[in-house]
Amino acid sequence: MWYLIKSYIQFLIHSNNQHGIHSPFVYDLITKCFYDNSDYAEYSILRTIRSGYSTNKQFIDITDFGAGSKVFKSNRRSISSIAKNAGITYNRQKLLFRLVRYFNSSTILELGSSLGLATSAMSWANPSATIQTVEGCNATAEIAQQMFNEHDLKNISLEISTFDEYFNKIKDQDMVFDLIYLDGNHDKDATLHYFEVLLDHISEQSVIILDDIHWSPEMKQAWIEIIDRPDVTVSIDSYNWGLLFFRKEQQKQHFRIRM
Ligand SMILES: C[S@@+](CC[C@H](N)C(=O)[O-])C[C@H]1O[C@@H](n2cnc3c(N)ncnc32)[C@H](O)[C@@H]1O
Repeated sequence: MWYLIKSYIQFLIHSNNQHGIHSPFVYDLITKCFYDNSDYAEYSILRTIRSGYSTNKQFIDITDFGAGSKVFKSNRRSISSIAKNAGITYNRQKLLFRLVRYFNSSTILELGSSLGLATSAMSWANPSATIQTVEGCNATAEIAQQMFNEHDLKNISLEISTFDEYFNKIKDQDMVFDLIYLDGNHDKDATLHYFEVLLDHISEQSVIILDDIHWSPEMKQAWIEIIDRPDVTVSIDSYNWGLLFFRKEQQKQHFRIRM
């Protein structure tokens, strides 16, 4: 807990808003997407789903594939507690919605579906996009799939497997994703490994979003090593997320942006 407070204070000290950003690409992204305060009609359906989950007292037995939880002690969990503690926050859900719209992402990969909160936001952001979402826990995935069916979200394909099994499956396929949201297994070595594999599935126009880059000192180290990679040109630390861009025309530059 103390580590998180300290790292957030450091972030606040070193971060900026749009002022002083000379890169037109990053300036536009901040002003037209990050700080876009429009009240999109789709936000209300996101709220409805969140509130449905938050009152759902059904218990499921989950299989934990990630780096463990800072909250849960047992693997028997209620849907409401999963949504509250493992699910994406409403603000980040809205930001993901705006990012998919802003970049007009049409091929999307999410690693770590959980109850499908982020997946559904991306689905509504671009109904003609193809969205693959990967979840290792069968019981959790079933709840997400029910929600996708209830809302007729036909552009989502939910794969129940570990991330590595999924990578093996697509390794010989020419799959390129415009946007990749990595939201599971917050472990340094795993994150570095996933990043390495994902490099085979991106183009110069892709964006990779890494969740919880300040979750632990090890995750922060993984982030530092990743942004140092020559493939990464622009990187943005927004505290909760790290965004990676690979546009060759950009000079290599790192930003810390307050949301
Ligand atoms: C933080 S939650 C994802 C939240 C979700 N993106 C959302 O929108 O609410 C992380 C999920 O990733 C899954 N996960 C973690 N590591 C995994 C792995 N190696 N393979 C498959 N699933 C994994 C967990 O089971 C968990 O449901």
